[in-house]
Amino acid sequence: MQEPRPVPGLDIFARRKREGQPLVVLTAYDLTSALIGRDGGADALLVGDSLGMVMLGHETTLPVTLDDMVHHCRAVQRARTGLPVIADLPYGAFHVDATETARAGLRLVKEAGVHAVKLEGGRQRAGAIAALLDAEIPVMGHLGLTPQSVNRFGGYRVQGRGAAAQARLLDDAAFLAGAGCFAIVLECVPAALAARVTAAVGVPTIGIGAGPGCDGQVLVFHDLLGLLPGPAPRFVKRYADLGRQAAAAVSAFAAEVRQRRFPGAEHSYADGEPAAAGDEPGDAGAGMAPGPDVTGGSAAGGSAAGGTAQG
Ligand code: KIV
Repeated sequence: MQEPRPVPGLDIFARRKREGQPLVVLTAYDLTSALIGRDGGADALLVGDSLGMVMLGHETTLPVTLDDMVHHCRAVQRARTGLPVIADLPYGAFHVDATETARAGLRLVKEAGVHAVKLEGGRQRAGAIAALLDAEIPVMGHLGLTPQSVNRFGGYRVQGRGAAAQARLLDDAAFLAGAGCFAIVLECVPAALAARVTAAVGVPTIGIGAGPGCDGQVLVFHDLLGLLPGPAPRFVKRYADLGRQAAAAVSAFAAEVRQRRFPGAEHSYADGEPAAAGDEPGDAGAGMAPGPDVTGGSAAGGSAAGGTAQG
């Protein structure tokens, strides 16, 4: 029998809070983003239902289905990053009854290999959280600007402003921690409120638009890398401008094809030459270090290790 792989530990969340070391969480939606997250040093990957917007082109996260989540989570898992993978329960998967919620969580664990799920909401999620924990599925909470509540909020607005809203959010956070959530995402709330929540609850808070007082931070992959055009919300820091760089690369390719400058002799095969490295479509190309099980190129010749497409 093969040596079992170590299970990626969610205990990193509690450990980091105890040690006062910030947690770094990144969204991932497929093999490429998962490998980049791993190679960039993320502590955990979140397959967020933001994939509905950044991968599937929906205007909100509401249309995302459980099948969509399973599909993308499986792609992330195939990267075998060794990192904990947390999956969003999509809108509708935990709003009807606890049995349905547990079944949704079980699908994500059994079919897609995720280690935990995240759901949006506070006290009203008591039954859903209990059902998931009962099914041995660790749960991450999510408070503040919960995007699945966009219709109730009337848009994407900062939450937790004013004494009543602050008291409600503090109460919900204490409830989620008490109910057994291993961490809580705080999205778009005033920094001072997020810091109060962080000091008050025993589980780590992961902020997005919630200031520096959280135990960790999460950003959406496409936002951090500047992959999509258009303005970003204030809480996003773009660490790269890859969308523009990628378009420039495609434009260089297009120009070279039209000028018949690509492919050159160095990208073409000759008959009768001895085989050389890079000749076979399955040879790993240049690029990031491959994951343990993704070294081979695809049948079409594109290497999961970052090699360029070959014919
Ligand atoms: O869906 C998502 O990506 C999220 C994060 C932004 C926290 O919920």
